[in-house]
Amino acid sequence: MRKIAIVTLVAAPLLVGSLTAGSVLASGGRSADEQALAPLRGAASRSVEQRVDRLLAQMTVKEKLQQVQLLSDGQVTDADARAGVGGVFSLTDPTRIDQLQRIAMTESRLKIPILFAYDTIHGYRTIFPVPLAAASSFDPEVAKADARIGARESATVGIKQIYSPMVDVSHEPRWGRIVEGNGEDPYLGSAFAAARVKGAQGNDYGRPDRTLTSPKHFVAYGQPEGGRDYNTTDLSEQRLRNLYLPPFKAAIEAGADSIMCSFNAINGVPGCANHYTETDILKKEWGFDGFIESDYTAVTETIAHGTAADAADAGAKALMAGTDSEMVSTTLRDNGEQLLADGRISKRRLDDAVRRILRVKFRAGLFERPYVDQAKAVDPASFLTSADRAAARTAAGRSMVLLHNEDQALPLDPAKDTAVIGPLADNQHDMLGPWWGRGQDADVVSVRQGVTDGSTGTTTFAQGCTLSNEEPPDYDPADDCGSAAGFAEAVAAANAADQVVLALGETREMSGEAATRSTLDLPGRQQELIDAIAATGKPFAVVLFNGRPLTLSGVVDSAPAVLEAWFPGVEAGNAVADVLFGKVNPGGKLPVSFPQRLGQVPIYYNHEPTGRPCDVTQKYTSRYRDLRSCDPLFPFGFGLSYTTFEVSDLALDRTTVSRKGEVVASMTVTNTGDVAGDDVAQLYLHDPVASISQPVRRLRGFERVTLEPGESRTVRFTLDASDFGFYDNRGEFVVEPGEIQVFAGDDSTADLTKTFRVRR
Ligand code: BGC
Repeated sequence: MRKIAIVTLVAAPLLVGSLTAGSVLASGGRSADEQALAPLRGAASRSVEQRVDRLLAQMTVKEKLQQVQLLSDGQVTDADARAGVGGVFSLTDPTRIDQLQRIAMTESRLKIPILFAYDTIHGYRTIFPVPLAAASSFDPEVAKADARIGARESATVGIKQIYSPMVDVSHEPRWGRIVEGNGEDPYLGSAFAAARVKGAQGNDYGRPDRTLTSPKHFVAYGQPEGGRDYNTTDLSEQRLRNLYLPPFKAAIEAGADSIMCSFNAINGVPGCANHYTETDILKKEWGFDGFIESDYTAVTETIAHGTAADAADAGAKALMAGTDSEMVSTTLRDNGEQLLADGRISKRRLDDAVRRILRVKFRAGLFERPYVDQAKAVDPASFLTSADRAAARTAAGRSMVLLHNEDQALPLDPAKDTAVIGPLADNQHDMLGPWWGRGQDADVVSVRQGVTDGSTGTTTFAQGCTLSNEEPPDYDPADDCGSAAGFAEAVAAANAADQVVLALGETREMSGEAATRSTLDLPGRQQELIDAIAATGKPFAVVLFNGRPLTLSGVVDSAPAVLEAWFPGVEAGNAVADVLFGKVNPGGKLPVSFPQRLGQVPIYYNHEPTGRPCDVTQKYTSRYRDLRSCDPLFPFGFGLSYTTFEVSDLALDRTTVSRKGEVVASMTVTNTGDVAGDDVAQLYLHDPVASISQPVRRLRGFERVTLEPGESRTVRFTLDASDFGFYDNRGEFVVEPGEIQVFAGDDSTADLTKTFRVRR
């Protein structure tokens, strides 16, 4: 088992004044408060487990049922704090956090601190690019920096847990929440999951500038049928284990001590009442000793799912399945005593849930440092510092993907006059993307501003059309660039300039939770706006802001250059200008396939083969009658640069390997162009003959490299059983003897290939 009692509780000097104003050092270096509280929670010199035991032994059933309750900012009252509520989320006012914490610490019987949580998904105040964008960087350090800064800013106001990272692998671009994760690949997703956990937690989330993380949504929430949020997921054991579980495992291994169970039912069993995933896999198989919180009202929603009869039944089933903490709904708090008396929940399980929550609170240092520095919490200088902004700008630049660049249309010349056109050109609001935390529109550098600041020529602006930020039922898709009335002005602006930047895409409301779209096209008449600008004959580039793969065939046909900027965050305009004017050479790669048409969905590079692979020239193959190819428009791993690269010399250090052995694969990346740039060396495997059909490709290594013109770098990847093997449908990891194909290149169509053989 992992790290029981990793937190050796920090003794007093650091803690002076943290419990109550005026606490003093007593003998032995401990604060008077701490000494006074020792009978309740055990002395700081005791192990976390001993202290948990001591506290637990004193708790009444009512207090235990409070401890497993998690309330929202809108729900919580002083009385809840007094009664010993376990957690509060979405509260970000440091004064109110402090008030509630003081009530818990001084007026509740056992003085157990409250764990405050928040959805810091891609920043708290310093908003970074959305996670799908960060994943496009193929550089986990981007996500790590985001998580580190987000955790620091969150912790500054008293938040000690963030509901992040979102690590749901998804092959479903209609689903609005694809934006929150790392795309379609479990290997890339695992690297980013671990990076975000480490970024936020460091080596010790008890430190004042760190937070506990909570990977979500456990599990397979990324595959809702029809793309509709919260909808059913039905999947095989091998898919569960090969595709959806790995990023969670990586997050847990990186130290995540809490996790959020999902809304959706998996094979008919809701995520927060799922004994198999919560207890059998997560807690028993993986040895997870932190706690599982439910998603928002997910416990009561099991009634609507049709697996619980009423609130009491829902609470009992969730707890007994392994859910430790109930968010928003109060089924356990309301019914727990009766459920216990009736034997429908066990004392042992309730104690286990409470034990897990207390353990994490001890590890988080909350008993020693329940309060935050109020002066710092309200000081604007604590947030969005110039260093934070610089990190966000770098991250955004590294996250952009150059999709198309005919005749080197990009970079643009910063000395020329530029017309910045489009509904997202002079926009701050949407640049933050969904889950903007405490980000503020006014903090955002718009594209118009960034281009103005980044060029020496004149910058003009025309909106062309507008997009709607309404929510249904007020939202009418006809309000998304539904009128061409502004096109003439846009065309005039283009004609008067030397070059045009066309900022198009989606609003931030079109992505995120409950934001499924039934089309992947650019909303409204934006394509017509592109065509109108193309007709001017002026050089131009389309810059896209969106949270999902879009169908871009029309865009690519009419625009000389297309830059996928996603939702870049607070430094959007500066980062876009950096890339457009060539200050930053784009090196991002797609973490998700972009289909030609919606009808191809789900389309993902790591699909299994079929008995009749797609051949559009042959009937009775797995093809579309009305498409000339089954390929995506842009494959996973794809992205261009202002320079060119060659990947060569794929080599393996051996041709056979034992099941427990290692193979080192190497490849050389050369910058064959004229400017410095970044490429991502990518290594894929395929097992051509296995007991169950294996994906045609699986990413098993990647590294982003920066190369000067003419420079080469040899990149090495060590492969072992975790790469050769796979989970079968009994849930067992197997390494089967036989041939493994290796592919190397700089996208998922990589064609350099070699094979090795795994021996019996
Ligand atoms: C979302 C979670 C989020 C929670 C708390 C839910 O609706 O699914 O991702 O953490 O709300 O805000």
